[in-house]
Amino acid sequence: MSILITGGAGFIGSNFARYWLNHHPADQVVLLDALTYAGNLENLDTFIDAPNLRFVKGNIRDSEQLDLIFSTESIDRVVHFAAESHVDRSISGPKSFVETNIDGTLTLLEVARQYWTSDQNQRFIHISTDEVYGSLSLDQPPSTETDSYQPNSPYAASKAASDHLVRAYHHTYQLPTVTIHASNNYGPYQFPEKLIPLMILNILESKPLPVYGDGQNIREWIHVQDTCSAIEAILQNGTVGEIYNVGGDHQCSNIDLVNLLCDLVDNRVNRNQQNSSRQLITFVTDRQGHDRRYALDSTKIQTELGWQLTEPFETGIQKTVDWYLEHRAWWEKVRSGEYREYYAVQYENRLKQPWVADE
Ligand code: NAD
Ligand code: TYD
Repeated sequence: MSILITGGAGFIGSNFARYWLNHHPADQVVLLDALTYAGNLENLDTFIDAPNLRFVKGNIRDSEQLDLIFSTESIDRVVHFAAESHVDRSISGPKSFVETNIDGTLTLLEVARQYWTSDQNQRFIHISTDEVYGSLSLDQPPSTETDSYQPNSPYAASKAASDHLVRAYHHTYQLPTVTIHASNNYGPYQFPEKLIPLMILNILESKPLPVYGDGQNIREWIHVQDTCSAIEAILQNGTVGEIYNVGGDHQCSNIDLVNLLCDLVDNRVNRNQQNSSRQLITFVTDRQGHDRRYALDSTKIQTELGWQLTEPFETGIQKTVDWYLEHRAWWEKVRSGEYREYYAVQYENRLKQPWVADE
């Protein structure tokens, strides 16, 4: 089998590539990644030299390059992660989200359609997000695969549009697609613009911990290894044309999560309670259009494919804290350059206007 992983140098893509090479050592793996600010060859560490791995630096909007990959590598599986993935960046600059997430997905679908005829074994797995279902209130049940779309951020809208293209390519051309909606992932190699690594690093460095709004927004968290095993189950046994929700079954408010991270990091670095990092928590102006809650109903993948979570949140989050503590060189490097400018622009204005809960 020859598998193309787009966005394979990003957070989930690199974890999935590592997972796939470990579990399927006989397969050929091609990683395609444009190496944007979020892509990093160091996420691939030692397995970049695996004899059955080929890394291609390239853009999913480049149909000529995709042509070359499909023709020379006989690709019969695509796992499509490549995307602009950060909501805050989509609010300050939505265009690249349309270019990569919509136009890029269309380009990839079109090349797959040209190369794949009627072979039943081919699969195009499209990785999407719970955010396409929109915001849930506290008393609403988790989103199911048949719920309507209500994307609220430019990021979510661009992912929703890409989902619709994937659906249309299956319906119109019978392209063997499957779409996955995952909840918030956490784990090693996540770029520190996202909540969990950003907070861990700020706690370590005793910097302010910027919690948006009142901190009561709820996200559902899944360890990236569990996402990888879900994708594997879907790739092997999922039904073509279907959607599968993959949730972590652990919902918590941002403020509860940040408090927990303070305690876990403090414990590891022997910071005493008088100096608790909780004192660093700073409520800052809210994200525009901030969705209150996401949650997924994962019954379908559990009952149809027998998939189960294996990493409880309590152990997964401890391991993640430990990983960042042990990989200082990795995060110091990814935070240099573009990230500094991003951080200054995103957070300076917010931190100058602290939001006070009781006022
Ligand atoms: P990421 O930002 O860490 O990685 C994205 C990767 O795509 C990067 O390596 C980047 O260089 C690459 N890329 C960007 N534009 C490209 C282009 N035009 N051509 C080729 N490569 C390009 O993102 P992630 O967190 O690993 O997310 C991967 C996928 O999973 C995305 O599609 C995202 O929407 C989806 N998803 C993520 C989460 C999450 O919590 N992280 C949850 C649900 C779904
Ligand atoms: P994020 O990791 O950006 O994921 P998403 O927006 O895709 O869910 O953010 C997770 C939650 O944390 C979200 O409700 C926004 C909030 N958040 C903060 O409060 N402060 C921060 O600095 C960041 C990055 C996020």
